Amino acid sequence: MAQIYHKKLVNAKNMVLNAHKNKYAIGHFNINNLEWTKAILEGAQETKTPVIIATSEGAIKYMGGVNVVVGMVNGLLDDLNITIPVALHLDHGQSPEIVKKCIEAGYSSVMFDGSHLPYGENLTKTKELVKFSEKFNVSFEAEIGSIGGEEDGVIGSGELGDPIQAAEISKVGIDMLAAGIGNIHGKYPDWWKSLSFETLEKLQAACKMPMVLHGGSGIPQDQVKKAITLGISKINVNTELQLSFRDATRNYIEEKKDLDDVKKGFDPRKLLAPGSSAIKATFTELVTWFGSKGKA
Ligand code: 13P
Repeated sequence: MAQIYHKKLVNAKNMVLNAHKNKYAIGHFNINNLEWTKAILEGAQETKTPVIIATSEGAIKYMGGVNVVVGMVNGLLDDLNITIPVALHLDHGQSPEIVKKCIEAGYSSVMFDGSHLPYGENLTKTKELVKFSEKFNVSFEAEIGSIGGEEDGVIGSGELGDPIQAAEISKVGIDMLAAGIGNIHGKYPDWWKSLSFETLEKLQAACKMPMVLHGGSGIPQDQVKKAITLGISKINVNTELQLSFRDATRNYIEEKKDLDDVKKGFDPRKLLAPGSSAIKATFTELVTWFGSKGKA
């Protein structure tokens, strides 16, 4: 069934373990369409950077479904001759059904986000899904506490992770743990000052495994670097690429290039090209900060 699609996609377990051991972080980048995917894969290949390509449930729906995503990513890996390690990851899977569906369709990594459930139920469901995933070669991310703000319809209060829960859930066979550490999805509000490094330190001491920083857009560089030294091994980025795409596309339109009918500036391949280049540039800048650039 699923495994026929796993020609080149890799499980993210070794990526994050190496990152954890050597104190850098793998970039997880959310995709929305072909342009996003291609720009990230090209950027990763050119810079020899291992990468995690991720889809929220909303992005899966937007693109048409899991088979479109798996087919598109695998097709690009082949046709662009991508040789660096790439994992295809489900971001914030809210139900066991979507997690299983992605695994069966050929994703090589999943997140079950049971943070909206009472902790006991989150733990039980995480355990069951880890067991299900063992038949497939996929990596597994769980979440405790919650990430503030909103990510494609997933809303969190920003509750800090509990070290006792971190220790317990780390033992059920997961490969990486996301936790609330004062991080927020989307643009950080003006009042926001810092990640809670005290919480991160306690959680890392409790779980001793690669941890995931959600809401990776807009965190000052010194805080990103400090978080990596304290156990963050995967950093999730969505908004930052969207803003880069927005700015570049806005420039193209403000310069009225889309209205140049002689040069066919209305051709979507031309209209979307500056945004794609901007995604690639932002990708390269971020993986340089994360320390994963050149690690493939
Ligand atoms: P940002 O949109 O804030 O970058 O967060 C992305 C994320 O955490 C995806 O899980």
